[in-house]
Amino acid sequence: MQVVLDVGCGTGILAILCAQAGAKRVYAVEATHDIAHATSKVVEDNNLSNIITVLQGRIEDVEIKEQVDVIISEWMGYMLLHKNMLESVITARDRWLKPGGLMLPSKATLYMAPVTNTKRYEESINYWNSVYGINMSAFKPLAKQSAFLGPCVETITFENVLARPQVVKCVNCDSVTIPELRSVTESFKFNSTVKAPLHGFAFWFDVEFGPSPMPLSIRYPTSSVDDHPPVDSQTRRDPTLLLSTAPNVLPTHWQQTLIYFFDPKDLKQDQLIEGRVTLSQNQASSRLLDVKIAYDTGGQSHVKYSFLR
Ligand SMILES: *[C@@H]1O[C@H](CO)[C@@H](O)[C@H](O)[C@H]1NC(C)=O
Ligand SMILES: *[C@@H]1O[C@H](CO)[C@@H](O)[C@H](O)[C@H]1NC(C)=O
Ligand SMILES: *[C@@H]1O[C@H](CO)[C@@H](O)[C@H](O)[C@H]1NC(C)=O
Repeated sequence: MQVVLDVGCGTGILAILCAQAGAKRVYAVEATHDIAHATSKVVEDNNLSNIITVLQGRIEDVEIKEQVDVIISEWMGYMLLHKNMLESVITARDRWLKPGGLMLPSKATLYMAPVTNTKRYEESINYWNSVYGINMSAFKPLAKQSAFLGPCVETITFENVLARPQVVKCVNCDSVTIPELRSVTESFKFNSTVKAPLHGFAFWFDVEFGPSPMPLSIRYPTSSVDDHPPVDSQTRRDPTLLLSTAPNVLPTHWQQTLIYFFDPKDLKQDQLIEGRVTLSQNQASSRLLDVKIAYDTGGQSHVKYSFLR
């Protein structure tokens, strides 16, 4: 029988599922007053007041009088880090999680890949070539800016993806720190599998719901696994659930986040796209995300700035 904390509980759905799954006590924290009020009513209406306590306030401000076994939170934003909800989860972890307690999700990974999307580009830009037969191509520069200035949250398929995706950031929820999230930089090197126009980069993430990694000596107390790691370590690991928002699985609320260039670049097959991506919290508000992608295609350097508001 475990004590659970739900950070940013919203409607309380996760807290209620935890109560139904047998949690001893659930603390559900929600900052928005009206939502917390409605959630309290939901808890009462479903006769769960003896298990679930709804606390209205920011995680930094509320008080919980005991340590918890599990922290659960649906904190993921677009491009994983938009809205910076993870910071509240880290604060909660450092204040109330018992040593060895469980973070759910336990791990999150952000990926990126170069993409082609001619249909999308033409719908937005080439439209101006002929509007009711009138040549309005003079509007194309403005159309590009309005369509492709900021990141676009939309669904693509794996056919849009031009190279093997790479990891931008891997977050271990047991150990990630707040300063680590202020700015994330990763270099990339893609090798295009086809000849196609490169329209931009796509980002997506997955999260794992697994037990916290425990030292091997605790997990396998009797065997000397350090000397002889188990051959089928995969099957000996506790099961892990994966929520993926990749373009090759069913679309989710998060879809994918696309950063398009104003003009496509022609790529040859096996052409390298090398560069560096930086995601940083905006100076004015840490909830907003600034994205900088510096990249090289066939000897030409480009920089793309984009801001997730
Ligand atoms: C609510 O719980 C109480 C005991 O905790 C029980 O007597 C009552 O029947 C329950 N009501 C509903 C609607 O389930
Ligand atoms: C429209 O005008 C642009 C120049 O402003 C020109 O380059 C283009 O060929 C014209 N398109 C057509 C279909 O005539
Ligand atoms: C890119 O991929 C092709 C095909 O797999 C391979 O032949 C080539 O060596 C790769 N280029 C680099 C620089 O890795």
